[in-house]
Amino acid sequence: MGDSKKNMPAGRGDIANPFENQKTKKTAEQLQVLAAQGVEGFWGEMSKGISWFKEWDTVLDESQAASYHWTWFNGGKLNAAYNCLDRHVTGWRKNKAAIIFEGELGDSRVLTYQDLYREVNKLASALKKMGVKREDIVTIYLPMIPETVIAMLACARVGVPHSVVFGGFSAGGLKERINDSSSKILITADGGFRRGKPVPLKDNADLALENDGCPSIEKVIVVKRAGQPVYMEPGRDVWYADLMENADLYCEPEVMDAEDPLFILYSSGTTGKPKGILHTTGGYMVGVQSTFKYVFDCQEEDIYWCTADIGWITGHSYLVYGPLANGATSVLYEGGPDYPARDRLWKIIEKYRVSIFYTAPTLVRLLMRWGEEWPASCDLSSLRLLSSVGEPINPEAWLWFFKHIGGERCPLVDTWWQTETGMHLITPLPGDDWFRPGAATRAFPGVEVAVFNEQGEPVKPGEQGFLVITKPWPAMLRTLYNDPDRYLTTYWQQFEGVYLSGDGAMVDEDGLIWVTGRLDDVINVSGHRIGTAEIESALLEHGEVAEAAVIGKKHDLKGQAVCAFVTLRIGAQGSAELVTDLKQLVVNKIGALARPEDIIFISELPKTRSGKIMRRLLRDIAEGKVLGDTSTLMDPAVINAIKKSY
Ligand code: WT7
Repeated sequence: MGDSKKNMPAGRGDIANPFENQKTKKTAEQLQVLAAQGVEGFWGEMSKGISWFKEWDTVLDESQAASYHWTWFNGGKLNAAYNCLDRHVTGWRKNKAAIIFEGELGDSRVLTYQDLYREVNKLASALKKMGVKREDIVTIYLPMIPETVIAMLACARVGVPHSVVFGGFSAGGLKERINDSSSKILITADGGFRRGKPVPLKDNADLALENDGCPSIEKVIVVKRAGQPVYMEPGRDVWYADLMENADLYCEPEVMDAEDPLFILYSSGTTGKPKGILHTTGGYMVGVQSTFKYVFDCQEEDIYWCTADIGWITGHSYLVYGPLANGATSVLYEGGPDYPARDRLWKIIEKYRVSIFYTAPTLVRLLMRWGEEWPASCDLSSLRLLSSVGEPINPEAWLWFFKHIGGERCPLVDTWWQTETGMHLITPLPGDDWFRPGAATRAFPGVEVAVFNEQGEPVKPGEQGFLVITKPWPAMLRTLYNDPDRYLTTYWQQFEGVYLSGDGAMVDEDGLIWVTGRLDDVINVSGHRIGTAEIESALLEHGEVAEAAVIGKKHDLKGQAVCAFVTLRIGAQGSAELVTDLKQLVVNKIGALARPEDIIFISELPKTRSGKIMRRLLRDIAEGKVLGDTSTLMDPAVINAIKKSY
């Protein structure tokens, strides 16, 4: 970890804060005053944004802190779907648009709060009739369509945790997640559109389920979206439309304890097995409702658009639960940014007069490469706030986004958080003065973060270290499903009782935080988090592969690209054909998001004397950097050999 001053990022330069002197500035100040009352005072106040069937007894229970478990809002009773729907349909918001759906082919559908309420009630009744119980888990493998939101909220209504699997995962990725959660019900579709073509979700599901591949699954509900012919297994598969036709219009929301699970969501870690991150109801809802409201300065008349897929945590927190708990109007877009042309996103902003736009740096860099003439040809004057998430946003992309999309009028808030944190943890508030192109800046009020050195002491300005969270927060993960030990070792034991994020960060002279990226064996490809070990174990399934080491290599658009170093078994030969086969194997096992950009055959992997693969070294070779310390290397001659084959 370097500690040189030359690392110090640039300041804000001459960019003025577009929100200075406005009412948001006052809100930001008020939140900081509230935060000064301490974690409990602050979150107790924030909990008022949620409708409780029964008020909680304590804000935070730390009695099990010794075993790294914290609970929030004990004694409180609520239902997440009730908070997203029922409380809005009793008043005028009944007729307000909840979701404006834009299909890739140009079809669109508006669902008011009343519409969404009705559909969720119907699906919830149908699920109940099917015999779904609280202890079950429903897997949702759907494209970006309103039914995905309906399915999640229907589960929440009947108190069954959902496990949404991103539609970009292959049959193999889906199967692994279904089996880890022992889901009884799978909700999927005949396809969703991506770049003009339907993605065959039901075919993938059939592949995952064939030969009793997912023995826990009893029923498959299929939404018709793409109009593709699909196989329907008698007795197992039912059409969503048939199920909804005779469903009851009302289903009583289950009264849930604050600590009852709301969902699990799989994310990648440092081993080959994805982690089932478990979120509960009360703390999660308080966290996402309040951060959505304050970070995005959400007002009643806003049209909000988050481009993330519902299959990731951003979609869960800031496309479903956060906006709906606030009674906001969201745009939900099914497809890609260049279909039919490279101005599709700007056309959508123009069409719906989007005012708040939340996206990822990888997309900003792509749009930047396509040139500013695309956004310049559309009317983007409705925008008033921009936000970024998923990876560090490089200052160049920040400035381009701020200037060419936000017209230098819109605050740009860079939000740092994770699947595990459930909610934004580090972000400027639109009204405060603390923003810097490229920095997530400061902890959200009521959240306490620090950057530690190896000894667990806060680093000095300009030094890099481990980004940690020093106090519990309401939307924190509660455990890893099926893997409680891994929950302890991954997050809480490196620095006793302090949450280890896995990210590196630096603090600047103003005390602001600059997140630099993962420090562990997790890579971030286009904002998608992938464990190198998952890709390695896929590669090892090939009969000719002896060993594999995967690293993330710096990439202009994607942030990082997957790069695999492979050694072959005796007798096997590296060839272009084998490269293609290995890439395809990864796509089949995990999904296209994990496809290696490069596969390099080498005769031996560089290892330390204790036998650990030196990934840092492989990364340096792949990025063409001057090699650092190689003194611990078992056989230094290996490096020259690798450099030659690269
Ligand atoms: C990892 C979490 C949180 C939703 C999307 C990803 C990286 C995320 C930022 C940001 C720098 C960021 C981190 C983090 N990350 N947002 N604003 N600045 N890095 O969720 O899949 O759980 O990934 O994404 O490395 O650990 P995720």
